[in-house]
Amino acid sequence: MPHQFDFLVIGSGIAGLSYATKLGMHFERLNQPVRIGVITKVQADETNTKYAQGGIAAVWAEDDTFAKHIEDTMVAGDFLSDRHIVEIVVNEGPGRIQELIDYGTRFDKEHDSPDYDLAKEGGHSDYRILHFKDITGAEIERALLEKTQSLPSIEVFTHYYAVELITRHQLGETVHRYDTDNKCFGAYVLNTQTGQVERFLAKTTLLATGGIGNIYQNTTNPSIATGDGIAMAYRAKGIGKDMEFIQFHPTALYEPGKKPNFLISEAVRGFGGILRNVKGETFMENYDSRLSLAPRDIVARAIDSEMKKAGDPHVYLDVTHCDYEKFIEHFPNITAYCRDNLGLDLRKDYIPVVPAQHYLCGGIRVNEWGQTNIQFLYAVGECACTGLHGANRLASNSLLEAVVFGHRAYQKTVELLDQATVPSSIPAWNDAGTTHPEELVLVTEMKKELESIMSNYVGIVRSNRRLKRAMDRLELIYLEHEELYRQSKVSVPICELRNMIEVAYLVIRMAMARRENTGLHYSLDNLK
Ligand code: FAD
Ligand code: SIN
Repeated sequence: MPHQFDFLVIGSGIAGLSYATKLGMHFERLNQPVRIGVITKVQADETNTKYAQGGIAAVWAEDDTFAKHIEDTMVAGDFLSDRHIVEIVVNEGPGRIQELIDYGTRFDKEHDSPDYDLAKEGGHSDYRILHFKDITGAEIERALLEKTQSLPSIEVFTHYYAVELITRHQLGETVHRYDTDNKCFGAYVLNTQTGQVERFLAKTTLLATGGIGNIYQNTTNPSIATGDGIAMAYRAKGIGKDMEFIQFHPTALYEPGKKPNFLISEAVRGFGGILRNVKGETFMENYDSRLSLAPRDIVARAIDSEMKKAGDPHVYLDVTHCDYEKFIEHFPNITAYCRDNLGLDLRKDYIPVVPAQHYLCGGIRVNEWGQTNIQFLYAVGECACTGLHGANRLASNSLLEAVVFGHRAYQKTVELLDQATVPSSIPAWNDAGTTHPEELVLVTEMKKELESIMSNYVGIVRSNRRLKRAMDRLELIYLEHEELYRQSKVSVPICELRNMIEVAYLVIRMAMARRENTGLHYSLDNLK
């Protein structure tokens, strides 16, 4: 028998949990029983959200203004952001953050003061980052999970992996990408404990599946970030947007062979950290007047260029001149990690850093309410493209976007609920004729090849030739993997690789189509 929900939420990071919480609270207020299912592919808190360090941006200080935050977001996004969306997110941000605080999220306060300690990060013209030490994401995730657990209408299904969305296609109907009458009725979900694919039917479905970092060799994203939601939506005839804008964080810790890369928060540069090459010389003055606090795309390209010029595998971040007591207080997690894993004493040692894939600015195209082009399918958070980030995301705007759009998607969901129905004839998952593959080594090897293609040819600096080579090689992996997929019973590694191939295809295709250098897309051929 299928599971029947009113609302299905795929993903338990900030986007999924803030949406589910809003719905749970709304129907509790109305005293109306509903079922909200939240599924998550591993344990509930293993999300990109949990690893967020720097914080969440919002106009909070007396002398800060919405206009300044809007302008900073537009500048960072190289004016490709949708101004209307930027205004929505910036203006609604403080209210949503107050709700996080009301749910029990702690943010650091200034000493002996009721005021929040606001940090500054690259591209921000004012101090506006609320944070909890250097583990802001873990704190938000904790508070949201606790809130979710207090609402009886929400059931969290851990170790459940969404394989495919259920749309009109599964009813045997033909739908095209730009049809306006496609509808979503839930998802086929693999119970990873039993190996069975179950039907999770719902009047409304939210994709909140996060990022795509694992298509690259170096990423700050945990292993769950494999672009599943984007690939599922695309296969269901959703629309992808701005996929070429891959954000590389300038300062991931250099630890060869380690995946994911541990992040050295941008807030460390906001605190006074200075970038140096391996000879110990500063170099940002050769690239941008904002020095180490220029927007991420500029700093990452500068580091990439320094490393290539000198043939060095990393540069350094120097905090030796900072007040150590204050540094530890603000960055206890980073200090401990550097000490325990690399034996660094940040009073005298520089931190070796390297750019690593960090964030996807594009994703599933949604409108100002988080609605995709498929009716009753919403997307919020890193998997969605609202238009906020344009060609490059401003630091700490991601958590903000997720809470603002979690709220807006909830509002629209409630408004349209009466129109949503689920047909009784949704077929069970059909895997007739498939078998368990004898070995998964093929999948492991294809994944390594994919990571290598994306890192070598679709990284910080691109060219027509590199992109073409990437597409040609991806095509071979795609064909090989599709054959394996068709013959196999679904499993997480096989499905994740399928999704990563799909997402890589979208990144390369959109990078090939972008003919100017803007924000995070930089091609040597566009210089000519
Ligand atoms: P996630 O938090 O990644 O949640 C995704 C969820 O989807 C998970 O529960 C996962 O299990 C689930 N899922 C995925 N696929 C499936 C599937 N097939 N089936 C079932 N479940 C699935 N942003 C900021 O604004 N400020 C910061 O300071 C900051 N620091 C960061 C530091 C690091 C190291 C990283 C990696 C990111 C940081 N970011 C920061 C970015 C930000 O954390 C993320 O963009 C944001 O948390 C994404 O939230 P989300 O809810 O969209 O996705
Ligand atoms: C960081 O702490 O540097 C990450 C901030 C972000 O990704 O917004």
